[in-house]
Amino acid sequence: MSIIKLHDKYFKTYISEKKIAKAIKQLVKQVSGDCKDETPLFIGILNGSFMFVADFIREYNYNCEVSFVKLASYQGTNSSGKIKQLVGINENLEGRTVVILEDIIDTGNTLQEIYEIFKDKKVKQLKIATLFFKPDVFKKELPIDYIGIAIPDKFIVGYGLDYDGLGRNLSSIYQITPKPTIKNILLFGPPGVGKGTQADLLKAKYNLTHVSTGDVFRSHMKRETKLGILAKSYIDKGNLVPDDVTIKMLKTVVNKLPASNGIIFDGFPRTKAQAIALDELLEEKGETIGGMLTIEVPTSLLIARLLERGKTSGRSDDQDENKILNRFNEYYTKTEILKEYYQTQNKYFGIDGVGEISEITKRLSDVFNKL
Ligand code: IMP
Ligand code: MG
Repeated sequence: MSIIKLHDKYFKTYISEKKIAKAIKQLVKQVSGDCKDETPLFIGILNGSFMFVADFIREYNYNCEVSFVKLASYQGTNSSGKIKQLVGINENLEGRTVVILEDIIDTGNTLQEIYEIFKDKKVKQLKIATLFFKPDVFKKELPIDYIGIAIPDKFIVGYGLDYDGLGRNLSSIYQITPKPTIKNILLFGPPGVGKGTQADLLKAKYNLTHVSTGDVFRSHMKRETKLGILAKSYIDKGNLVPDDVTIKMLKTVVNKLPASNGIIFDGFPRTKAQAIALDELLEEKGETIGGMLTIEVPTSLLIARLLERGKTSGRSDDQDENKILNRFNEYYTKTEILKEYYQTQNKYFGIDGVGEISEITKRLSDVFNKL
C-alpha cells in the first residue's frame, strides 16, 4: 500500500511492521535487563499505546503486571496543550517499580503530567518507555529511560496512533504527506459500459494519459509480437491474460508515458495481485491511485450493446454471446474483489452509467474533482 487518506489528510508508508517489531524487541531487552529481578507494573497510556503494550508484554518473559490509564492531551494534528486528569489507576503503587509505556512522546506535555501525577504515589522508581519519540519538538528537561524509534517532527498514524480517531488499526506506521498533485484513477465497469469513450473525454478535459491494457494487448497482437501471440491465446477464449505478463507489460508502458496530470488506467488492475503491483509501481514514483471509478450499467443492456459493437469492430470477443457472458463472469467474479480492496482505502466510487454520454462524463468529473 502506498498513500492513504484519513479525513482530509494524506499519509504515506513510513515504518514497517518488521521495524516496529525490532524496536520493541530492543526495548524489552533493555527493560527486562533492568527489571527482571522484581515484578514491575507496566502502565500503558491509552488510547494510543494499546497495540504497543500488547506486543511489548508478549515479548516480556519475566513476571510483570499490566494496567492502563487514560490521559489525553491531544486533538487533531496539533498539541492543544490542555491538561487532563488520569483515569484508571486502582493498584497501590507504593514501593513498586512502575514502567510507563507510551506510544509516542512529542512535546512532552503528557510526560510532564505523568511525572506530576506520580510524584506523590511513593513508587520505588518510575521509568518511562516510549515507542516513538520526536526529539526536535521535545521541550522538557525530563528523563525518558527507553526510546524505541526517534522520528522527525511529522505527524504519524497507525499502530494505535490516530488522526482524529482514524488510523489506529493500521499495522504499520504512516507519515503525513502533502496531497498528491497527480491524480491517477482507475476506470472500471463491465465490458461495453463505455469506459473507452469516457476515458477519452476525461483525458482531454483534464490532460490525462490513458492506459488501456486491452488496447496495448491488441496492438501487440496486431503486430504479432511474442507477447501478442501469448496474449491472444487467452483473449480468444475470453480469459484474462496472467498477472505476470500483464504487470510486466504495464510497467514498460507506464515508465514511457509523457508527463500529464495523471493516468487513467482502463482494464487494469483485474486482480488483487495486480492492484498491489500497481500500488508499488506508483509508490516508486511518489504517487498513488486517487480512486476507483466504476461505471455501472445493468447486464441486459450491455449484452445488446456489445453484440452491436462486434458487428463493426471485428473484435472476436464481441461477436459471440457465450464469450461475452464468459467475460461478464470473469468481470464480476475476479474484478469485484478490487472493489473491496479500494473500498478499504476509501477510494471506491460507483457511477451510474445509464444516460447520455455527457451526463456520465459530468458524474465522473464530479467525483474526479473531489479526489
Ligand atoms: P505530547 O504531550 O506533546 O508529548 O504528546 C503526546 C500525545 O500526543 C501522544 O500520546 C499522542 O496521543 C499525541 N501525538 C503526538 N504526536 C503524534 C503523532 O505524530 N501522531 C499521532 N498522535 C500524536
Ligand atoms: Mg499517547
